[in-house]
Amino acid sequence: MSTKKYQNPVGAALAGALELFKKKVKYGELKDSDRIDGKTVLITGSNSGLGFATAVDLAKRGGHIIMACRSGIPTAGEEVKRLSGSQKVEMMKVDLSDMDSINAFIEELKNKGVKIDILIMNAGIVPAQSRKTKQGLEEMFMVNYFSAFVVVKKIIEGSFMNTIAADKPKIIFTASESHRSGPDIDWNTFGKYQEYTMGKSVALYGYYKLLLVTFAQELNRRLNKNGLTISVFSLCPGAVNSNIAKEAPEFLKPVIKVLFGLFFNSPFNADEPLLYFACSKDMKDQTGMYLHLMSMKDVDERATDVITGEMLWQRSEELLTSLGG
Ligand SMILES: NC(=O)c1ccc[n+]([C@@H]2O[C@H](COP(=O)([O-])OP(=O)(O)OC[C@H]3O[C@@H](n4cnc5c(N)ncnc54)[C@H](OP(=O)(O)O)[C@@H]3O)[C@@H](O)[C@H]2O)c1
Repeated sequence: MSTKKYQNPVGAALAGALELFKKKVKYGELKDSDRIDGKTVLITGSNSGLGFATAVDLAKRGGHIIMACRSGIPTAGEEVKRLSGSQKVEMMKVDLSDMDSINAFIEELKNKGVKIDILIMNAGIVPAQSRKTKQGLEEMFMVNYFSAFVVVKKIIEGSFMNTIAADKPKIIFTASESHRSGPDIDWNTFGKYQEYTMGKSVALYGYYKLLLVTFAQELNRRLNKNGLTISVFSLCPGAVNSNIAKEAPEFLKPVIKVLFGLFFNSPFNADEPLLYFACSKDMKDQTGMYLHLMSMKDVDERATDVITGEMLWQRSEELLTSLGG
């Protein structure tokens, strides 16, 4: 069921900040012994914000980190090495708004023989207005939803997930509670370029997160119908003091900086649900779960609908085919 609280920038920021102050039951506790030594972790959008903090903290826990980014190469990787004290950190270039870049990235994974134990699809944007990608799609649709479908599909089909390891591999999606506020999926406009300005950007952000969470549910059904092959998780990190509002109007930026600094969580605290899914022994052989901060919740019921999930997969595949596969 759709809720309205994440439909404009101010409402979304307030709702996110207020959530941090509500008393919640924690699902579990991450322990120092929850380590991922020897495991390969690929994280998109890890040169900044939540993804960057996750890269540092997972490197500290023994992971070999591949930072899949469009910018910050090599400086962000060097900083992750410095902060984590680990040298097992590398960066790969990918612009998730561009199919050519995604295809080149997948080719590079193949050439390097990468086997991924933990895949974290984390990149996301809140653009100031609609923008057309090189292939004519809308950029937020592409970065926040469709690139996740394409990258995950190509990684699975290319057998780049480490399915022969003793521990089942994991795919983790950084979603948002705002998925509950998106309107129902509109198949008439699906994948089609549409114009918007900042006023509608936050509402559309929730809509694309609904697509992402629906995809995560469908992926879980497809991968694990005859027993667990790859764990699939999604989460909302709560309000994070990151660069997510970098396209906000100039006059609002000083206010946002102060508000984010005062009321939003540091990325190094906000990454707890990501670390928990990635490392906790409690999450071994689990799948399909959604954490909001550290509270386990059901996703919006619309995202669990089997017919909608199948339709989303089919329409996404058709779109991918129309773009050359
Ligand atoms: N901040 C919050 O309050 C909040 C709340 C709920 C959920 N989230 C989610 O958390 C995730 C991380 O966001 P954040 O808050 O950490 O914001 P952030 O600091 O802006 O990080 C976003 C990351 O996504 C990357 N990205 C954007 N467009 C890309 C593209 N075309 N190709 C490749 N990478 C791209 C950015 O790279 P560049 O640096 O090159 O732009 C950056 O590394 C997002 O999925 C966001 O929706 C955030």
